Amino acid sequence: MSPQEELDRIAAEIRACSLCPLSRGRTHAVPGEGPADAEIMFIGEAPGFHEDRQGRPFVGAAGKFLEELLASIGMSRDQVYITNVVKCRPPGNRDPLPGELRACRPYLDRQIEVIKPKIIVTLGRYSMARYFPGASISRIHGQPKRVGGTIYFPMFHPAAGLHQPRWRPLIEEDIKKLPGLLAEARQRSGNEPGTDEDTEGPDHYEQLSLF
Ligand code: URA
Repeated sequence: MSPQEELDRIAAEIRACSLCPLSRGRTHAVPGEGPADAEIMFIGEAPGFHEDRQGRPFVGAAGKFLEELLASIGMSRDQVYITNVVKCRPPGNRDPLPGELRACRPYLDRQIEVIKPKIIVTLGRYSMARYFPGASISRIHGQPKRVGGTIYFPMFHPAAGLHQPRWRPLIEEDIKKLPGLLAEARQRSGNEPGTDEDTEGPDHYEQLSLF
């Protein structure tokens, strides 16, 4: 099965998923979108109103800001993979519950395994918590961590920049580090997607807990 077929299969499972109660309130599940060989993966929190309606990630106001941020570094959303830790909209956009995060986690793990991104950008608390447990976003935003062959890059959620104008310039500064990180990651992997053995296997995940 090709990586794209594997992603399609995961997406089909997500659309049919009933592992947690969020499945009962959704219009559409939102598996994520982008090329199967994307070098950069953005992980947000959960779909909001517009995402639930369209079945696509980051298509509302936060998505527009994310697109502007990408444009500021000469990139567009179709070059990156965009997804969320939780694939269905929590009612009223409330925070995802622990059981919902747990139920959804294997889908994201499998997406990462297929795509093998060189850089994982966490947007906001929930995706940050996966890779930087116990950390505070206001302290670690914009500071990359290199684990195995992967660079983890924590950023404020774009919605935070819309609601808190004082964070907007921080977000705009942080994203400017991405091209340099990508150049570094490409150099380290010899520009061959998926050839870095360190990105796979249990060691990779064990090292993550060192953060
Ligand atoms: N906020 C998120 O975290 N994800 C989306 O897809 C949209 C808004």
